[in-house]
Amino acid sequence: MEKLVNTTVKDIQHLYELQLDIARDNDFMLYTYEELINNKVNNILMLERFLSSETNVALHFVSKGKIVGYAQASIHKVFKYAHVAKVVVAIQKSFRRKGIATQLLVKLEGECLMRGVRKLELSLVDTNISALMLYNSLGFEIEGIKRGSLKINNNFHNEIIMAKCLSLSRPRS
Ligand SMILES: CC(C)(COP(=O)(O)OP(=O)(O)OC[C@H]1O[C@@H](n2cnc3c(N)ncnc32)[C@H](O)[C@@H]1OP(=O)(O)O)[C@@H](O)C(=O)NCCC(=O)NCCS
Repeated sequence: MEKLVNTTVKDIQHLYELQLDIARDNDFMLYTYEELINNKVNNILMLERFLSSETNVALHFVSKGKIVGYAQASIHKVFKYAHVAKVVVAIQKSFRRKGIATQLLVKLEGECLMRGVRKLELSLVDTNISALMLYNSLGFEIEGIKRGSLKINNNFHNEIIMAKCLSLSRPRS
């Protein structure tokens, strides 16, 4: 059975294992595999804090009882930025190109909108073509390039900043 669900603290162990799996497979996520595995306790605590905060939205996709993808939005706490959320998404390798990231991001956008978010922001390394195509297909636009901001395997890479304005004309209630 497949379903899209809200992530809670009881999912932390499985989510952490999925993050490890994805970080082992590529260098597109913020934390390296080594950072995740060497700071396991801190990373679990960070996830716990993230999932306990009301200003965060966390969803995951379950297939046959296993978490195979997740999307998260972290809504800014500072008042002038409180309509902006930072987004991340990742899918386990064998479950890609099945529309799972799209489903997660569409639902995440809806949940963000309901909480007063009017702009989604994210960033990616310039070699991450899959992510670039995914975000493009969902209406995200490039807002800028941070040159040489990311160092991956001793090579410097540009970081692409993308965003999607949900509806800047409607004020936060
Ligand atoms: C990027 C990622 C999240 C996409 O997840 P996904 O579930 O495969 O994406 P979807 O199946 O919803 O793809 C939607 C659209 O995005 C585009 N897309 C996704 N992967 C693509 C690829 N490898 N090549 C070209 N286009 C791609 C396509 O337009 C696709 O639509 P289509 O399959 O009908 O052609 C996934 O590849 C992943 O987890 N990568 C590793 C982690 C990562 O990079 N996260 C983002 C960090 S910024």
